[in-house]
Amino acid sequence: MNILGIETSCDETAASVVADEIGTNKLWRIRSNIVSSQVKLHAEWGGVVPELASRQHVRDICPVVKRALSEADLDWHDLSAIAVTQGPGLIGSLLVGVAFSKGLAASLGIPLIPVNHLAGHIESLFLHNGSLPLPSVVLVVSGGHTSLYLVPEPGIYRLIGRTRDDAAGEAYDKVAKLLGLSYPGGPAIDQRARDGCDDAILFPVARMTHRDRNKGPSVLSVPGFEKDGCEGRRDFSFSGLKTSVRRYVESCKYHDGENQALQDSEISDICASFQKAVVESLLNRTFEAAKLFGAQSVGISGGVAANSRLRADALSRGSETGLSVYLPTLELSTDNAAMIAAAGFRRLREGVSAPLDLNAEATLII
Ligand code: KG4
Ligand code: ZN
Repeated sequence: MNILGIETSCDETAASVVADEIGTNKLWRIRSNIVSSQVKLHAEWGGVVPELASRQHVRDICPVVKRALSEADLDWHDLSAIAVTQGPGLIGSLLVGVAFSKGLAASLGIPLIPVNHLAGHIESLFLHNGSLPLPSVVLVVSGGHTSLYLVPEPGIYRLIGRTRDDAAGEAYDKVAKLLGLSYPGGPAIDQRARDGCDDAILFPVARMTHRDRNKGPSVLSVPGFEKDGCEGRRDFSFSGLKTSVRRYVESCKYHDGENQALQDSEISDICASFQKAVVESLLNRTFEAAKLFGAQSVGISGGVAANSRLRADALSRGSETGLSVYLPTLELSTDNAAMIAAAGFRRLREGVSAPLDLNAEATLII
């Protein structure tokens, strides 16, 4: 069976054909995985401009899907279903993928499967590694999200922690902009941090100690752990860190009443120290949660999972704690449609398909 995945939630137009892999230890096989990135288009603005993004998706979606099909060496009629990102994301961008997928599913007479983008990031781990030892604690860390999930069994995702403000990738992008580095900021800081000293500056990271009282009833409780008293402590916060980097940069620039450019070595030290703070905060919460929930493994996915220090530190914490750590390939870490097709397989097996009045949802939650 072949599923076509379509992903347009932010600034990547992506299409992929994934086949089920019967009789091997992998669940699925990627037959093609095409991503058309809009990075160059948005770089000038230092961030994604939603209106430009949706217009570019309209231009790119047909050629990207056709290429996914031809690289998979398949014909339209070899497709069994279409999985599409329904949300969360930029509404204009999501609508392009959803409208296109509805039209294609109707014309081919095959099921349309709505997929949550974050479920896609979680399934990228299963797509690359086959089955994970469960229960697993999975950190989804990207430009739009920093969320912790408990995965007790395949296809079940329970939210156990999330950022109260900025996502980690967003903090990377904003700090890079502050330092005059290129967009997107994550890869740029990752690169510069290699030349810097990570204990040059001690940046503070907020530690949450209680539930967010303004959020109303909790969505984070997990059966059996309703009164663990740790809810909230599994949350993240990166906006204070970002402010502290800004203040530090300002203090370096204004010497003797004059505005001076940062030296290259100062930029590298800031990158390394900032990255250390982010990675420690992400891994502390993730491994604490894994211990609390008796996880058999830890997974890390999403764009920031491409970060070299996060990957290396996660693996060494795994060996220290005896927990196996799972990461997607770099290609499957950032937004792609193969993970959407994989999540679609899971949902199709559960009997989920969508009617043709399916709508995109910018704030869809798992
Ligand atoms: O998952 P993704 O492609 O899109 C969203 O769903 O947001 O993640 C994009 C984010 C951006 O914020 C980008 O700066 C960050 O992932 N990113 C990285 C690295 N590569 C991408 N952050 C840190 N280090 C990297 N190597
Ligand atoms: Zn994403």
